[in-house]
Amino acid sequence: MAFSDGQADFRSDTVTRPTAAMRAAMASADVGDDVYGEDPTVNALEERVAGLLGVEAALYVTSGMMGNQIAINLLTRPGDEILCVETAHVRNHENGAASANSGVAFRTVTTSGGQISPETIARLTAESGYHLPSITLLSWENTHNYSGGTVVPFDVLVAGSEAARSHGMRVHLDGARLWNAAIASGVDLAQWTGITDSVQVCFSKGLGAPVGSAVCGSKDFVEAARAVRHRLGGAMRQVGVLAAAVDVALDEWERIDGDHTLARELAVGLAERFPLSVNPSPETNMVLLHEQGCSVPLKTIETALGEAGVRVGFISPTMLRFCTHRDVNSDDVRRVLGVVDMLVADLPTNR
Ligand SMILES: Cc1ncc(COP(=O)(O)O)c(C=O)c1O
Repeated sequence: MAFSDGQADFRSDTVTRPTAAMRAAMASADVGDDVYGEDPTVNALEERVAGLLGVEAALYVTSGMMGNQIAINLLTRPGDEILCVETAHVRNHENGAASANSGVAFRTVTTSGGQISPETIARLTAESGYHLPSITLLSWENTHNYSGGTVVPFDVLVAGSEAARSHGMRVHLDGARLWNAAIASGVDLAQWTGITDSVQVCFSKGLGAPVGSAVCGSKDFVEAARAVRHRLGGAMRQVGVLAAAVDVALDEWERIDGDHTLARELAVGLAERFPLSVNPSPETNMVLLHEQGCSVPLKTIETALGEAGVRVGFISPTMLRFCTHRDVNSDDVRRVLGVVDMLVADLPTNR
């Protein structure tokens, strides 16, 4: 369902607004000073998240980026390199935080779908030597945003993680959308986290909570993470008012399956109109429309949709992304397809 102003916003799954139930929970949340560890709502949430993810402990943090940056800070040393795919969020979209805060650089791999093979890990670590930086952390992103919410398959993640460990590396998982990966793959949340040293999960994306993420791992890791969070200015006080909304979101996290169904509905519709430019079977909640092979320029599509009250976003100059989430529905998908139909009907070849 579009927002109350009639806008349907497909730019990201971060645009959702808290539900009435979340707002009610926020209003009545039992709170305390979380810096003293005395906010009961936060404490309960961290315990719940740890249980759900099958890890020893979890820490509520302000954002996905803070969760990633805390993990990087704890699992590397200045001068190290992090191995990740070229299009990883930690490398491209965190304002250079890993370099600025932790003094590390990135060794990147160009692959599709966020996957890194054991062979690549072996080759790159063999190239590391006396004069070269040490690659000490492998960072996965699942689902992989830039590829259109694709799932890094479980066996790929296990094989890569084991290879990384055999070369002395630690393993972090940017699971901003691990919820989507778990639902799409049928592989339990706890299985994904079982092979990593740290995982970051976002509550403010498909789950629809207004604020926050958790960074998770062993008890020792989370104790150290608490100190780094403080150092980064991320220690909050009566933050149970936010955690309460997350608690409501977690009651129904599996509803994101519906976002995946909606994404397929949209992708099939777009692929009927632009068969060369859209994958009709997206794996999760993102649909990419590519400029190549598209009979209407993407800019024209974006503008026409905007005039019809539909917002979409470019994730590169040649790629429009449609993201489904709890605040869009089938009516909004029909609105998109209706606009596209008008543009296609206007093409000179059809006159
Ligand atoms: C894959 C991925 N990781 C991390 C983040 C950072 O999350 P936040 O915006 O909460 O800092 C995002 C945000 O879009 C993301 O897509």
